[in-house]
Formats: sequence, C-alpha cells, structure tokens
Amino acid sequence: KYSRIVLGIETSCDDTAVAIVTDSKKILAARRYTERAIQRQQGGINPSVCALQHRQNLPHLIAECLEESGVKAHDLDGVAVTVTPGLVIALKEGISAAIKLAKEHSLPLIPVHHMRAHAVSILLVDDQIRFPFSTLLLSGGHALIAVANGQEDFKLYGQSVSGSPGECIDKVARKLGDLGAEFHGVHPGAAVEVLASRASPDGHLQYPVFLPSVSGANMNFDQIKGSYLNLLYRIAKDRPSELNIPNFCASLQDTVTRHIASKLHVFYESLAQHNSQNAPPTQLVIGGGVAANNYIFRAISKLCAAHSVSVHPLPASLCTDNAEMVAYTGLLMLANRSKSIWWRPTDIPDTI
Ligand code: KG4
Ligand code: ZN
Repeated sequence: KYSRIVLGIETSCDDTAVAIVTDSKKILAARRYTERAIQRQQGGINPSVCALQHRQNLPHLIAECLEESGVKAHDLDGVAVTVTPGLVIALKEGISAAIKLAKEHSLPLIPVHHMRAHAVSILLVDDQIRFPFSTLLLSGGHALIAVANGQEDFKLYGQSVSGSPGECIDKVARKLGDLGAEFHGVHPGAAVEVLASRASPDGHLQYPVFLPSVSGANMNFDQIKGSYLNLLYRIAKDRPSELNIPNFCASLQDTVTRHIASKLHVFYESLAQHNSQNAPPTQLVIGGGVAANNYIFRAISKLCAAHSVSVHPLPASLCTDNAEMVAYTGLLMLANRSKSIWWRPTDIPDTI
C-alpha cells in the first residue's frame, strides 16, 4: 500500500514525459513521446521544435496518465516538474503545465533538479542502494560524476565542460554517412557500437587522437568530436577509399571510453585522498543512454572492481529521460518536507 501519489513532468530536452508514481515505488502510469527520427533528419535537436512538441503533447499525456492510473487529479499529493538544467524554452513548457495543474487542483508544486532525479531514480528499482552513493551519468545531454549524500545533498565532482558523449558519438557517426539499412531508426551511438564490434583485433588503435586535457574529473567531449571530425575530413580529402569504418568506430568508442574511465579514476583517487575520515561510497550508479554501450560499461566495471566499488546500472527504461524519476524525486522531497516546495496554490508563482 501507499500513502502518497505524485504526478511528474519532464520536458528538459526532446522527450515529453509524464508519470504517476506512489511512495511504495509503484508506477501507476507512464507516458513518453519523442520525435527522434525527425530530429535526426534535421541533424540534431532544435529547442523550439522540442518546445512545440511539449506544448502539443503534454495535455493529452497528462490526461492519459490520470485515466490509466484511475487517480483523480485532486487526489494527487503533488505535481513534480523538472526545472533545471535543460533547454530553457523546453523546460518552460513543462513548468507551465505543472503550474496550471497544481493551481487548478490546489496541489503542492515540487521543483525537481533533472540530474538529481536521474541519480535517485535507482531507488525505484534497486533495494541495495544506500546513501551515500556515487553516480556517473552519460547521455546525449550530459556527462557527470557526483556523490549523492542524501536525496537533496549532492556533490558534483566532475562534468563535461563542453559537449556530451552521446552528441559526440552521434555527430561523428552522422558524418560517416549512410551506415546502411540495418541501422535505420537506431541511435547512431548504438550503430557505432555494432560497427565497432566488427573491427579488426587492433582496429581501435588505427585512428588515435589525443585525449582532452581538462582539469580534475571534468571531461570535454567536444574536443574528441572535433578531433574525429578533423580526421574524417582529412581522410575524405586525401584517401577516401582507405577509410575503415569498423576500425574508425572502434577507435572513437575506445577514445570516449578511455576519457571517461580516466576521469572516473581521478574521481576515486581524489575521494581516497580527501575523504580519509569518511569511507568513500562503495556503490556506483550508472545511467544515461551512452551507458547502454557494453564496451564502455565493461571498462567502467573493471575500474570499479579495482576500487572495490559495486556497479548498479539503471534499467534501460530509466536510462533515458523519463518522468518516473521526476515523480519519485518529488515523493522523496515531499517526505523530507523540502523547503523548495510551493505548498499552497496561492504561493505558486506564475512562472519559475
Ligand atoms: O540518455 P539518452 O537516451 O537521451 C538523451 O540524452 O536525451 O542518451 C541518448 C544518447 C544518444 O546520443 C545515443 O546515440 C546514445 O545515447 N546511445 C549510445 C548507445 N545507445 C544509445 N551510445 C553509445 N553506445 C550505445 N550502445
Ligand atoms: Zn537526462
């Protein structure tokens, strides 16, 4: 049984998502809408296209979730919405839908931090996880390494100062041209993984580039992207027939992997140095679409084993942007009586 129910809304990027979740971790309804195929044709994410998509879809996704869950809007215990970080005009659509719902039904409005929601979403599915735990998120929108000390107490140790691993892999994959019919409709990143698995034994060494130099546990995926785009440009100009696509994909994948693994190593070293009183967290939660990559996952697992850390991957359904994580973070914030919640409809601002 449960005592609280929250409706969550997520619109920080290109996914429009709504979910209704209980504090007993039951997902009563969840809907997600995205137009990846269209965005891919256009060569990337366009914020105003995303915002329009959110505006058009939110009303019926909310109605569908309420209907499927059998929960009346006024029986909800709160509306949780992603307020940062993300594409500002996309976030605004979710925020105004949440404000409208909260005011109309006199519900508390719960502002949720997208990255924290990604990290705590593991609690929905994994009973072994305890605070403090570390988290590594790798997606099309972000890369970060943080420690979750409590559900509203996060310490960021490293993040991408430019670009993201997903965008890096996607852009380079697109520049490789048509990868063939077998890859139509799949994430370019997933195509790169399959192609890389067809590389020759030392294929990942054929196209080396310098690893970005960036301080501490920070990362820079735009630099890796730039290096590979340059390399491709030079090959296409001088000796196009010599391009070995599987080896090229394997090299790209290996470079991205080494960059992430070396930064995770820096993170563990610095924890060991600066955390001598408190034992460093022994659990690592990993999530984001790029963490679905087996080559990257294996490298991270190996590194964690060396540091006596257990790896807890988020399930695929929670890896991408979703509203379950937003609703569940809202429930935790309600239980904590978080100071950032607007409890009374009259306190809710017209915009955030
Ligand atoms: O977290 P996610 O699903 O969504 C957003 O960031 O919005 O991440 C999507 C990213 C895309 O860039 C996609 O190409 C990448 O994750 N991706 C992969 C793999 N599957 C998806 N990258 C590498 N290897 C994969 N197997
Ligand atoms: Zn995300």
